[in-house]
Amino acid sequence: TFLGIDLGTSGLRALLVDAHGRPIGATERHYDVSHPHSGWSEQDPADWVAALDGAVADMRAAHPEFAELRGIGVAGHMHGAILLDDTGQVLRPCILWNDTRSAAEAAHLDAADKVRSLSGNIVFPGFTAPKLEWVRTHEPEIFAKTARVLLPAAYLNYVLTGDYAADMSDSAGTSWLDVGQRDWSEHLLKVSHMRRDQMPRLVEGSDAAGMLRDDLATKWGVSDVTVAGGAGDNAAAACGIGALDEGQGFVSLGTSGVLLSARDGYKPAPETAVHTFCHAVPGRWYQMGVMLSATDSLNWLSRITGASPAELTANLGETLLPPGRVRFLPYLSGERTPHNDASIRGSFSGLAAETTRDDMTRAVLEGVAFGLRDSFEALRATGAKMERLIAIGGGTGSRYWLRLIATVLGIPLDLPGDGEFGAALGAARLGMAAATGASPEQIMTPPDIRETIEPDSALITKYDDAYAAFRAAYPVLKQVQ
Ligand code: XUL
Repeated sequence: TFLGIDLGTSGLRALLVDAHGRPIGATERHYDVSHPHSGWSEQDPADWVAALDGAVADMRAAHPEFAELRGIGVAGHMHGAILLDDTGQVLRPCILWNDTRSAAEAAHLDAADKVRSLSGNIVFPGFTAPKLEWVRTHEPEIFAKTARVLLPAAYLNYVLTGDYAADMSDSAGTSWLDVGQRDWSEHLLKVSHMRRDQMPRLVEGSDAAGMLRDDLATKWGVSDVTVAGGAGDNAAAACGIGALDEGQGFVSLGTSGVLLSARDGYKPAPETAVHTFCHAVPGRWYQMGVMLSATDSLNWLSRITGASPAELTANLGETLLPPGRVRFLPYLSGERTPHNDASIRGSFSGLAAETTRDDMTRAVLEGVAFGLRDSFEALRATGAKMERLIAIGGGTGSRYWLRLIATVLGIPLDLPGDGEFGAALGAARLGMAAATGASPEQIMTPPDIRETIEPDSALITKYDDAYAAFRAAYPVLKQVQ
């Protein structure tokens, strides 16, 4: 059997699959994000390790097949910085992907010579290099002690193997990697005051990074378990739905909203807010647009209304309504694609005396759908082909939202036949490739499609008009904030 671990923003998910890659069982443990200041977002890596411990204990209790474990793959939320001292101790809480405190440092690095051309991307505030620049300025004593910087997935690799190894797909999101060459760039490291010896060893996601430590193997009742290079969660999700080639991709409704398209070759577009990263398998790359607050927007509405997200969306029924009069701009943590704007914040407009909670829910779902359309347009402009997409992530539980997104994008959305498709399955598949030596192309096949959600053709024009109004709102909001 093989274990896929998806270290997500809201919790850690573990999925056990059999020798054919079919799910045997899954379990999830939750943890929190802390926001000590506006725009800050942190987690304690010890919480991830506790979640992993608990998830494995659950898995062992429920599934005797765990004892036959041969390979593990870890996927993690991307860009987070875990700083270790020279004894491997964590020096401060992990600064997460949606933390925008280092906006000034990011803008500075982004303007430096050859940074965009080597890294293939804008240096976004959420990326790793500007975070270290922030630590250098604001926490110099911690910066001085930093012997190693790991991303979340690489940190779990370290916990599992005792070795410092990171995969290409996650490392591509640091602004330290030469994304075309798949190697650390001396120039990029130098401009952000880092050294190669502070970086983990690079491996392809589907190759072996090491073996499970003896003490953990004994504790878990397993032996000879290979740990794969692993992946950033979006590359892992692409492996989970078999998106390796041009024309294959997904829309993910998680804490972040992601539209991902596999590309034939390395086609960076660093003049746009499209992300171009290494895939988790050798010789491949992908592109994506990222919005920072997707289900996070609905979760926020849920917190302030006291109704669960499921309750909020269920109230809308399943039949798509025309665009509402209330408008929501989903910039609760700023935005990456297409604005690269860390300081913008969200808004509601069009509120009336008769506005109900349902109207506001509808506006939130629409605002997120329009944000995804922004990424869709940005990706299309770089030449990515997207005639249909697979829909994954927690938000796909709402039929209303799915129908809305299909209509706003104007393409069909395919739903995988099994709830487990996504980053955890992709991670398990990486573990399988690393442990068995089978080719990634053989393992990472597309799922059976349970159902296709078609756009509502009668509403497409109305939603196009509403999207145009959404586009027009950002510059105005920018002026008044
Ligand atoms: C991608 C990104 C997010 C996280 C969420 O660039 O920052 O999608 O990976 O887990």
